Amino acid sequence: MAFKGKVALITGGGSGMGQTAARKLAEQGAQVAVFDVNEEGMAKTAEGFANVRPYRVDISNTDEVHAAVKQVEADLGPIDRVANAAAIMPFGKLLEQDPKVQLKLMDINYGGLVNIATAALPGMVARGSGDFISFSSMSGIIPGLLMGGYCATKGAVQMYTEILYHENMHSGVRFCVVCPPPVATPLWKQAEDTVVPRLVESGETLQPEEVIDDIEACLEKGEFMSLPGKQTRTGYRMRRFLPGFVWKHAHKAEGF
Ligand SMILES: NC(=O)c1ccc[n+]([C@@H]2O[C@H](COP(=O)([O-])OP(=O)(O)OC[C@H]3O[C@@H](n4cnc5c(N)ncnc54)[C@H](O)[C@@H]3O)[C@@H](O)[C@H]2O)c1
Repeated sequence: MAFKGKVALITGGGSGMGQTAARKLAEQGAQVAVFDVNEEGMAKTAEGFANVRPYRVDISNTDEVHAAVKQVEADLGPIDRVANAAAIMPFGKLLEQDPKVQLKLMDINYGGLVNIATAALPGMVARGSGDFISFSSMSGIIPGLLMGGYCATKGAVQMYTEILYHENMHSGVRFCVVCPPPVATPLWKQAEDTVVPRLVESGETLQPEEVIDDIEACLEKGEFMSLPGKQTRTGYRMRRFLPGFVWKHAHKAEGF
C-alpha cells in the first residue's frame, strides 16, 4: 500500500519496532498517530516529522483506547493501517513471578490488542480496506522456560488475530500477525531486569528494520503470518512436528 496521504495508527510507537514503523510511514508521507505511555519516546518518534502525532494512551484501558481512536479519526481522518506493538516483557518462573505481574502482562499485551481491534477495526471493515498488524512473537509459538507469563500473552495474541482475520477475511482489510525472534530493542531491558533464558540468549537477534520489512512483504504477498529471520521458520516447523525435541532442547539449555 502506498502510504502518502494515508492515516496510520501505531501503538507502542514510542520505542523499538513501533517507533521504526511509525518513522518509516511518516517518511513515506503518511499521517501517523502514535499511542504510548512513554511520552519522551513518542517525542523522539516525532522528531523531524510534522506528520507524527503522539497521543498518551494506556493500551490496557478500554475507554481510553476507544476515545483516543475517535480522536485520531477526528484529527486525521479514517484510519488506513493499525499496528499494535505495545507490550511489556518481564520474565520469571511461573510460580515465582508475582501473579499481579502475570495478569498485567495479559492486560497490556493481550487486552491492548482487544481494545485496539474493537476500537479501530469496525471502521476499516465498514470501509472495506486497510491493514491490521498484530505483534505476537516466536514466544507465542515456541514455549520457553522462565518466560511463561509473556509466552501466554503472545499465544493469545496469535490466536485472537487468526480468528479476527478469518472472521473478516472477505472484508478487504489485510491482516498480518508477526512472530519475530529476539529483536534489538529497549524491551530487552525488562528481561535483563528479571531473567534472560539461556535458550533465547543463544539464538539470532534481528534489527527492528528487518521485522518491519518482513511485515510489509507479507502484506504485499497476502500472507497472514510473518516469520522474520533465518531460524524462525525452522523453529516454527520444529514446534509443530517435533514438540518433544523442542522441550528437550529448552530443558537442556536452562539446566533443569
Ligand atoms: N524485542 C523483541 O525481542 C521482540 C521479539 C518478538 C516480539 N516482540 C514484540 O514486538 C512488539 C514491539 O516490541 P519492541 O521490542 O519494539 O518493544 P519496546 O519496549 O521497544 O516498545 C514497546 C512500547 O510499548 C509501550 N507500552 C508498554 N505498555 C504500554 C501501555 N500500557 N500502553 C501503551 N503503550 C505501552 C512502551 O512504553 C514502549 O514504548 C511487542 O509486542 C513485543 O512483544 C518483541
